Amino acid sequence: MFLVGQRMKIYLKTESEIAKLRDANRAVCEVLDALEDAVKPGITTWELNELADRKLKQLGATSAFKGYHGYPAVLCTSVNNVVVHGIPRKDEVLAEGDLIGIDFGCFRQGFCGDSARTVPVGKVSAAAQALLDATRDSLERAIAACVPGSRLGDVGWAVQSYVESKGYSVVRSFVGHGIGRQMHEDPQVPNYGKPGSGKRLSEGLVIAVEPMVNAGGPDVVVRDDQWTAETKDGSLSAHFEHSVAVTKNGPIVLSRSRS
Ligand code: MF3
Ligand code: CO
Repeated sequence: MFLVGQRMKIYLKTESEIAKLRDANRAVCEVLDALEDAVKPGITTWELNELADRKLKQLGATSAFKGYHGYPAVLCTSVNNVVVHGIPRKDEVLAEGDLIGIDFGCFRQGFCGDSARTVPVGKVSAAAQALLDATRDSLERAIAACVPGSRLGDVGWAVQSYVESKGYSVVRSFVGHGIGRQMHEDPQVPNYGKPGSGKRLSEGLVIAVEPMVNAGGPDVVVRDDQWTAETKDGSLSAHFEHSVAVTKNGPIVLSRSRS
């Protein structure tokens, strides 16, 4: 989500609410799994959006993205130097060697699921694969920090310290977010921070953690379509997102595929 100024109340979730969030995220996983299988050279990002839309209906879910601040599709498809919020297009054909970020969110039983993955199109360069791997691994490190008593700065630092040690940079103008009955709830979850700083994570907090990592510099520019965010220097970017519940038994990844 966009980095915003306003603060609202944090809604901690009960076990039964977490179960509903898991159900919404199961639908998200089914859609993302189908999309991942469909990604190949020659398919358009619009065809991926149509596949997601069909699946969404089969699953009895409603889109969290379509109509959100006027967003025109059910899916975000962010190719190569696009960081997030790429809009699917009929004239955008995937080619061997591309990286595509697929980001999908939906509601079921009044609760929102949200997850994203970056996947290779056919065979990709070693550099592209390394960026993808580092971004996915940085998310796993951030998830490990999602325990009661740890702080938002610890979560951000887990991402930042890992990816910067590999020479990449973390995007700062977009952040993760609380999630529940709304797709975007407080708190905002930056992918950078100082260890031991920021708000403490409590049992029942559910957050969407979504590192966006650039091979070059951290700066992002938004295209004239008001959505597509791309790297300012044209470098490659990757994005992974999981919805995570903070519980006394440790982090539960609600959007883990085939879980
Ligand atoms: N996962 C993205 C986010 O949390 C998806 C939002 S796309 C939008 O910001 F179109 F709905 F804004
Ligand atoms: Co999100």
